[in-house]
Amino acid sequence: MNPTADIGVIGLAVMGENLALNFASRNFTTAVYNRTTARVDAFMAERAAGKPLIGCRSIEEFAAALKRPRKILLMVKAGEAVDACISSLLPVLEPGDIVMDGGNSFYADTVRREKELAKAGIRYLGVGISGGEEGALHGPSLMPGGDASAWPEVEPMLKAIAAKVDGNTPCCEWIGPGGSGHYVKMVHNGIEYADMQLIAETYGYLRDRLHLDAEKIQAVFEAWRRGPLAGYLIDITAEILKVRDAGSGKLLLDLILDAPGQKGTGRWTSETALETGTPVPTLTQAVYQRNLDAAKELRQTGSRLLAPPEEAEPYPEEEQEEVIDALESALYCSKICAYAQGFELLKAAEQRFNWPLHYGEIALLWRGGCIIRADFLGEIKKAYDRNPELENLMFDDYFRTELDNGQEGWRLIAADALLSGVAMPAMFSAVGYYDSRRRADSPSNLIQAQRDFFGAHTFERKDRPRGEFFHHEWNQPGAEL
Ligand code: 6PG
Repeated sequence: MNPTADIGVIGLAVMGENLALNFASRNFTTAVYNRTTARVDAFMAERAAGKPLIGCRSIEEFAAALKRPRKILLMVKAGEAVDACISSLLPVLEPGDIVMDGGNSFYADTVRREKELAKAGIRYLGVGISGGEEGALHGPSLMPGGDASAWPEVEPMLKAIAAKVDGNTPCCEWIGPGGSGHYVKMVHNGIEYADMQLIAETYGYLRDRLHLDAEKIQAVFEAWRRGPLAGYLIDITAEILKVRDAGSGKLLLDLILDAPGQKGTGRWTSETALETGTPVPTLTQAVYQRNLDAAKELRQTGSRLLAPPEEAEPYPEEEQEEVIDALESALYCSKICAYAQGFELLKAAEQRFNWPLHYGEIALLWRGGCIIRADFLGEIKKAYDRNPELENLMFDDYFRTELDNGQEGWRLIAADALLSGVAMPAMFSAVGYYDSRRRADSPSNLIQAQRDFFGAHTFERKDRPRGEFFHHEWNQPGAEL
């Protein structure tokens, strides 16, 4: 076979199929291969018919179809399947070939694979891809990292298939070496979890505290589509709230079991944050909340055994609009905190792995195509353009003013939710993060004293330079070491 394909895609689940079709739609001849070859046949006969796609029924045929150096995108399940796929590919590859992993792989696996493949002269990239099925087909957000020598060779193709913002700026830019592309995608998913949880809590408040019916809740989200919260997750929430079950005619959302699933990327974000001592409480609370909510039966038992607070007074009809405005502020301020935490975790990677990350570029990548895409990311881009060394997103003038303007409503909702027993733990964690980050004097002097009391762990003093450590003999007042 003459090597005519510009790129090859391995793995024809829906993301792989859609990305292959996206490449083909930009006139890149695309070879496709899937271990179960019946899938190749079905794809070629249906969705790929008449398009510049080449269906391959063996890995050898696939390798032969690709122009050299080969450019291959793996779209297989993260984990062992990626290693298995690489092992089957290695015998048919040549030095200089480029292998990209487009799945949600754990960044540490990408670091390992890049090193292993480099020994055989194969250039490896971990490409974070976000946008779900639709994004894959029409324009995802792409976060490539790994062997930098490969980037210029795949850049035109990846940029061609990426989502575009502000006219024609692709949501695809080089992230950096090693596992940085997958790391950035992992942080994206951590933020995604927090964003979704905060929206779900807000929906819960509208339903369980304001007792609004679905139509009114829909109208609230519909209005928010045009405000500071404007973005994909608010859009789909507004759409979800319109959909009726074909059989019963009931709102489909009301029929969906409140037991959330997860595939692990949110958990990795939290584990990585704990490893580096980076506080991401809202991101982690969102993971906890999926665990708490997944245990439906335990919650049912809890609902019988654990007493609620005294029933809160309902809001009079004429006050509801004001409360909904406060809720919008509360969601917006919490969202700013979640992003501030995510960007703290990116900063931690820069320090830990020495990856020179460009936060403004990353915000731009997330501005379109991906699940967390929102107008608000344009403001984050501007914040990092103003100050690339920004210590915390909340310290930027624009965002600290937004937080200040919104905090009255934010606190009102959080306090009311606490008093009325409506669980909004991700929102509470966000307020706590804000208050903790703006407090010059924390009560942790007491933690230090306790540690020294029971374990002689020593402490620093406010009246002495940092780095000098003291121990007090707590049972013999006055005696100090
Ligand atoms: C994306 C999504 C995508 C996927 C998540 C869902 O950016 O396109 O994040 O990667 O939908 O893996 O994750 P959970 O199943 O863990 O919610």
